[in-house]
Amino acid sequence: MTATKSPPTTVAEEATPEARAHGGPLVQRWASADEFARALEGWERRTRVRLAPHQLSDAVLIASGAFSPLAGFLGSDDYEAVVTEMRLASGTLWPIPVTLTVSADHEAATTRAERLLLESPEGETVGWMELHERFGFDPLKEVRHVYGTEEEKHPGVARVRSAGTVNLAGPLRILRDAVQPPYPGYLSEPLEARAEFRRRGWRTVVAFQTRNPIHRAHEYIQKCALEIVDGLFLHPLVGETRSEDVPAEVRMRCYEALLENYYPARRTLMGVYPAAMRYAGPREAVFHALARKNYGCTHFIVGRDHAGVGGYYGTYAAQDLLRGIPAADLGITPLFFDNTFWCRSCGHMASEKTCPHPAEQHVLLSGTQVRAMLTAGEELPSEFTRREIADILGRHYRSARAQA
Ligand code: ADX
Repeated sequence: MTATKSPPTTVAEEATPEARAHGGPLVQRWASADEFARALEGWERRTRVRLAPHQLSDAVLIASGAFSPLAGFLGSDDYEAVVTEMRLASGTLWPIPVTLTVSADHEAATTRAERLLLESPEGETVGWMELHERFGFDPLKEVRHVYGTEEEKHPGVARVRSAGTVNLAGPLRILRDAVQPPYPGYLSEPLEARAEFRRRGWRTVVAFQTRNPIHRAHEYIQKCALEIVDGLFLHPLVGETRSEDVPAEVRMRCYEALLENYYPARRTLMGVYPAAMRYAGPREAVFHALARKNYGCTHFIVGRDHAGVGGYYGTYAAQDLLRGIPAADLGITPLFFDNTFWCRSCGHMASEKTCPHPAEQHVLLSGTQVRAMLTAGEELPSEFTRREIADILGRHYRSARAQA
């Protein structure tokens, strides 16, 4: 299978609403109430599919264009090519299968219906899908290729393995009015971001994906990147994450405190990325980068163990995968950072690249250590996280303990 080479895009093009997106023009799949009413005409027997939270996230990201060029959930040709070759059947780079999986006994898995009504997890109608295909698949094969493991301890693997064995595929439409923006006041769609970048006159924009509160290491690599581009797009993922991760609403308070106190407003913009985490490490790093390209960003930060979980991926496996992808296929420039930490001898943030001192001088905490300290009511060191963030997280963990 040959790769589709996209013609090079200029930075100015990337920042306009009509801009090219991954694999071609930006594909949006929003529908109005009128279009929905027309779609319902003559549609007698309605088969419904209740979307799980992560499936609704995927559907909304398809509708907004964040997952361009996808127009719906993957059919079998695309699915097979994505799983085994990280490409759509057309050859366009695509690392993660975006599928609507149901169990084999679900009404929609056996129906002859040509259309499905899509419902939110709460049962509200959010759109519809042309059912072009239903196909069985092997979840174990999928997780081996995409996650590099079959272990159910891996949260992304567990989700794929428990979801079912039939994929429903076809183009979808999502009712714009049925989906509330996740955090009013924060942009969540590619065209909104592109318009705001243009308004600010940013020609180069670096995106930062995160599912965690921002600690000093994150801040350091963001600010290093900001030294070389026009603007920083802080783009926290606010869809479904594992229960151990800090909830998005608490993280949002952390980000706001940080932006208010330590970031230049003129050069920084926060939006929200309403995606669910898959914890697929290297492949998800590519996925995150492509989505941010669709938001109009020109650069994307990839640090240590991007989108990793447990010890499943090497510290720099995501960087290695991205390095091997031709620049024209990726269409966004990854900025790689080594593991960073506070060095007591240097008196500032550093990495192995910049610091000559031994590891004992480095203040470095893993996510597990941070959670253990907060759960035990201990304060996080200010070399690790800004005081404002430590306070917000401390309060959150104290109230969680009080409720337990
Ligand atoms: S992720 O799942 O969204 O990747 P996280 O929010 O922890 O997790 O990381 C956001 C980004 O910061 C990722 O690119 C990650 O590689 C990077 N990162 C996190 N901690 C460090 C660190 N100590 N040094 C360098 N990069 C880091």
